Amino acid sequence: MTEAELYTVYRGIYIPKHWHSAESLKSFKEFSFRPDDIIIATYPKSGMTWTQEIVPLIMSGGDPASVETLPTWKRVPWLETAQASVLNLEERPSPRILATYFQYNMMPPSFFDVKPRVINVMRNPRDVFTSAFHYHGMASHLVNPGPQSDFLRKFFEGKVMYGSWFDHVKSWLNAEDKESIMHISYEEMMTDLKDSVARMAWFLQKSLDAEAIEKIADRCLFKNMKQDKMSNCSTFPHEVVDQTRSEFLRKGIVGDWKNQLTPAEAEHFDAIYKNKMNDVKYKFVWDSN
Ligand code: A3P
Repeated sequence: MTEAELYTVYRGIYIPKHWHSAESLKSFKEFSFRPDDIIIATYPKSGMTWTQEIVPLIMSGGDPASVETLPTWKRVPWLETAQASVLNLEERPSPRILATYFQYNMMPPSFFDVKPRVINVMRNPRDVFTSAFHYHGMASHLVNPGPQSDFLRKFFEGKVMYGSWFDHVKSWLNAEDKESIMHISYEEMMTDLKDSVARMAWFLQKSLDAEAIEKIADRCLFKNMKQDKMSNCSTFPHEVVDQTRSEFLRKGIVGDWKNQLTPAEAEHFDAIYKNKMNDVKYKFVWDSN
């Protein structure tokens, strides 16, 4: 199926019709944030599911019940989707943990008034592209990626779900409310998960001892989340996400792009990246590898 059949254009970007309806987007625009809400903001395939495991565990002090009883999408709902609009978020106790794939400038008015805390996870766009290429091949609500060169062109042009990686990352990095936003990368989480958990806990003003941090980090290891049906997205309907084609928790590594991009594509990627990111001062871990 084509982009026109599967996606809606919302504020200039493609969003999958399967997840969004006119009503869900209306609820999103009218959503009332609370000052103690916690928002996880990522571009797709950058570590959303992982962070939907980590943050509830931090807030519960490591109590596994916080992740054992609900699948990721129910415990940390995507605000802009139809799922969120039926989850009675107004009745959830504080602090609510919520997710968004939208860019900073797409957040609703209440977000800018209330300034809730945001954890923004970013990932090397080459690995994001690689993960997305496999995901588009298994998800019936997304346009089939087609030949890799076509999908790469669409990725650069932002003609993929939730728009351009470049615009997304820059929007959150350039956000005005600096003190309420924590930026972290998938790569930092891979290098030192305990330290990443501790930094997130500090940002969320949750005091955790070393034992709790260790327990959370262990539970959130790729191999452990992959076994857990509440966290490995296996509760998604088979007709929407066919995990016999590629698993949602696929490889969980840094640098898989080296197995995916041809040398010419990698070179082209470098040139586009350099050009599009030349106005960004933030030091990304992947730029120094
Ligand atoms: P790969 O396809 O490269 O394996 P999102 O949840 O934002 O859609 O991101 C999905 C990516 O995060 C997938 O990447 C998935 O395997 C990876 N991921 C999920 N949980 C992880 C974990 N605990 N450790 C490392 N990577 C994880």
